[in-house]
This record gives sequence, C-alpha cells and structure tokens, in this order.
Amino acid sequence: MNILVTGSSGFAGRHLTKYLQVKGHTALIPEIDLLNATETEVVISKQKFDAVVHLAAMAEVGTSMISPAKILRNNIFAQLNLLEALRRRNSKARVLIICSADEYGGSQEGSIDENAQFMPASPYAVSKIAQDFLGLQYFLSYGLNIIRLRPFNHIGEGQRIGFVVPDFVKQIVEIEKSGQSGEIIVGNLEAVRDFTDVLDMVSAYELALIKGQAGEVYNVGSGKGVKISYLLNQLVKMSKAKIKITVDESRFRPGEPSQLICNSEKFMKATGWKPEIPLEKTLERVLEWWRKTR
Ligand code: GDD
Repeated sequence: MNILVTGSSGFAGRHLTKYLQVKGHTALIPEIDLLNATETEVVISKQKFDAVVHLAAMAEVGTSMISPAKILRNNIFAQLNLLEALRRRNSKARVLIICSADEYGGSQEGSIDENAQFMPASPYAVSKIAQDFLGLQYFLSYGLNIIRLRPFNHIGEGQRIGFVVPDFVKQIVEIEKSGQSGEIIVGNLEAVRDFTDVLDMVSAYELALIKGQAGEVYNVGSGKGVKISYLLNQLVKMSKAKIKITVDESRFRPGEPSQLICNSEKFMKATGWKPEIPLEKTLERVLEWWRKTR
C-alpha cells in the first residue's frame, strides 16, 4: 500500500515509517503545514495513496498543562484540515486516527475497554477526545473510511524528554558519565500505566490499516499495569551507578489518572495483534540507546 504518514518525524512516526517499509509498503511523507488549510488541501490533492496514518500531534501531557491553548489549537485544527482535504477530494483511502488512552483519564478501576467513560485530566486529553470525535463524525457524516485507535503508553528509542522513560534514563546516563554517584529527580511514582514497546505499537497500526473496520475505535496496549516506581527501580538496577532517588512534588500533575490499564480484546479479536516484547527488554534497549547516542 501507499501510506501517507503525518508526523513521520515524531517518535512513533519514525518507527512506523521504518516498519512500513519492512512490510513492503511505501510510506509517503509530504511536507505539509497541517495548520494551513489551503496548503493541506493543495498538498493532499497531489498525492496518490491508499491509506493515511495521522500521527502529527503534540503529545506531551505535562506541557499541555502549561500551554493548553497551543495544544488544543494544534491537535484539533491539524486534524480538521486533514479531514477536510480528504473529504473535498472524495477520498476512499483508509484513515487511521491516533487518539489516546488519556481520553479515559479519571480513576478507572481495572482494565479499560472502549466503553469506559471519558474523564479527561489534561488539555492534551481534551484535544485527543476532539480528534477522536472528529474522526467519528467524518465517518458518520461523510462516510470517510476512518478507524480510530486509542493507544496506551508506548516507549522505545528516540522518545523525547518530557515522557517518563527518557526523563529517567537521561538522568541515569548523565550520572554514569560523570563517574560519580548522583541524584535523580522524579515525579509521581505511584501512578500505574500500561507500557507497550513502540515496535509492537507500530505493528498494531499496520494491522489496524489492513484489518480494522471503518467507523470502529480500538484500544491498544499490553493489558499489564505497572507502577512508575517499578519502571524506575528496573532502570536503576540495570545501571552500575550509585543513584539516589528524590521525589519532587512540583512535577506531579494535578488530578492525573492514578491508573490506566488497557483492555485490548476488541482489537486483538479484530486483527490478531498481540504485544511480543517484554517491558524489561524494552527498558534495557532504551538505556543502551541513550548510552550510545548521548
Ligand atoms: N514525564 C514524566 N517525567 N513523568 C513522570 C515522571 C517524570 O520525571 N515521574 C513520574 N512520572 C509519571 C507521570 O506523572 C505519569 O503518571 C507517568 O509517569 C507517565 O508519564 P508520561 O510518560 O509523561 O506519559 P502519560 O501517561 O502522561 O501520557 C503518555 O501516554 C498517553 C497514552 O496513555 C503520552 O505518551 C501520551 O502522549 C499518550 O497519549
């Protein structure tokens, strides 16, 4: 398939474009300013593609608390301009909208399926609900061939500072390089999240394109909840450096979800997907990547 990818230079985007090539697809990565409606329409009208993966979005929950207007404007209007461009050209292409587990927010008991209530705890989460529902509306109103995914946390090489794993790993590698003992500053270690290797996540994106059903929405995640303290302890254990951990409450996010664990049965049934890479292996790989590249 010829697959147009927006946000191809982002964390998941870089892994996805590589993966699509390995699977024999062609990833098209046009330069578009998605916030410019006219430019988006012109660029999209010139491309030939069978599918679109819309990844371009600001993804940092922490930053969204500081600059809410920016993230809302960016995430909502970028997608609106893309969908309008597709609608105007009567596109039959399959479109994958990447939403987020953060839409559920709140303090959800147990694992979360697609019917759980939305209780957004950040402007980022609200922007993702808007993207999700815009996708649904363009399917219902105009018959665009849209599938929505709600991925839970994913991690791997190349993720930016501002997310928990790179925030921890960067500090650990700096201590290792200093050759001395050191202190690492962390935020809320009590939160429970569901982590999937980005390589497993991008394989889910490809399967969704091939086997997902138009109009549907699917959760994607490992189904295993881990405390952030577990993640930190694993990383610290993988290092020989002497590391003191200091919790800084100013890094806590007001009202953030205490737990987000995925129920991805619906997606697994529809596509046969299952995550293959154990969390500990991913953490080892990410730590090694930071040691080599930083
Ligand atoms: N970033 C960060 N830095 N988070 C920390 C730290 C720290 O030093 N210490 C503790 N945490 C906690 C956060 O409070 C949060 O509970 C958890 O670690 C994970 O934080 P993030 O990696 O920033 O991810 P997130 O859960 O807020 O959101 C991610 O997952 C969503 C899907 O569930 C992002 O990748 C979103 O873009 C994604 O949609």
